[in-house]
Amino acid sequence: MNIRPRRNRKSAAIRDMISETNLGVENLIYPLFLIEGSGIKDEISSLPGNYRWSLDLLLAEIDSCIKLGIDKYVLFPVVSEDKKDKVASYSYAEDNFYLKAISEIKKHFPEVSLMSDVAMDPYSTDGHDGLVENGLILNDETLPILGKMAIAQAQAGIDIIGPSDMMDGRVAFIREALDSHNFQDVSIMSYSAKYASAFYGPFRDALDSAPKGGDKKTYQMNPANRKEALREAFLDIEEGADMLMVKPAVCYLDVISDLKSNCEVPITAYNVSGECAMIYAASANGWLDYEAAMSEMLLSIRRSGADGILTYFAKDFAALQNK
Ligand code: PBG
Repeated sequence: MNIRPRRNRKSAAIRDMISETNLGVENLIYPLFLIEGSGIKDEISSLPGNYRWSLDLLLAEIDSCIKLGIDKYVLFPVVSEDKKDKVASYSYAEDNFYLKAISEIKKHFPEVSLMSDVAMDPYSTDGHDGLVENGLILNDETLPILGKMAIAQAQAGIDIIGPSDMMDGRVAFIREALDSHNFQDVSIMSYSAKYASAFYGPFRDALDSAPKGGDKKTYQMNPANRKEALREAFLDIEEGADMLMVKPAVCYLDVISDLKSNCEVPITAYNVSGECAMIYAASANGWLDYEAAMSEMLLSIRRSGADGILTYFAKDFAALQNK
């Protein structure tokens, strides 16, 4: 045998030198859940190790994450039922605790990059990402609400807007709304290829945001489709998105790879709650080695072409790197 691939794997020194993929804390964005009040650290049962934090404790948590090197966060609000309505008006209300928290976090930690979620579902009594009328999810009527939400978040100091609702035309609408209010420097990371996935369950538990009727299949994508993701991606680029996201990540590595090779903007992927929950559950049962499995999952997402990864593993991965 002249050719023996194993020679290139014979020592850690050689393996490390020729590693095709590098994954570091700088690639990770850490999702955090915010709840109104103080002194609250409420564990999400389907996502162990993740909590609904009140702002006071969340600031301390971010401080400890910064010490581990995490400088990008995405923040989600847990909104009480009495603040929800059909038009998600609380999402841009003056006294909104989520908007106040954005300002506070940016004031305490100006160096971190803070990302938001722009969608109606956490604020909607229907639990849908768009306005619901006679069982239909309205598209164009939803856009002005998303615009108001984005402007309110920009005013609060958000760095990156994350439209996660999959309405048509929302990136252009939000870009125009931001620019007309002098927020040219606020970025848009669009959830371009967001699938109607079964893997969002623990997230919906965390926020109590599951749809009250029907499903999200008329706006989120069919898991069977790959080319359609490119169509959505090209549209979002044309509409002014700075970065694109694929969501979920692990079942959609082909889609991440397609977007990475066909688009000129950075690509991110959301390693969603259900994907992380599988590893938490298997590790808790002793069926998987937690650190090895989550590191391999993140590395695979990165290998498929993701520049950035939103993941609940961010803190544990960072701690592992700091060991
Ligand atoms: C809401 C939203 C969802 C997630 C992020 N933003 C849920 C959904 O679309 O129903 C899921 C994230 C996760 O599962 O970790 N627009």
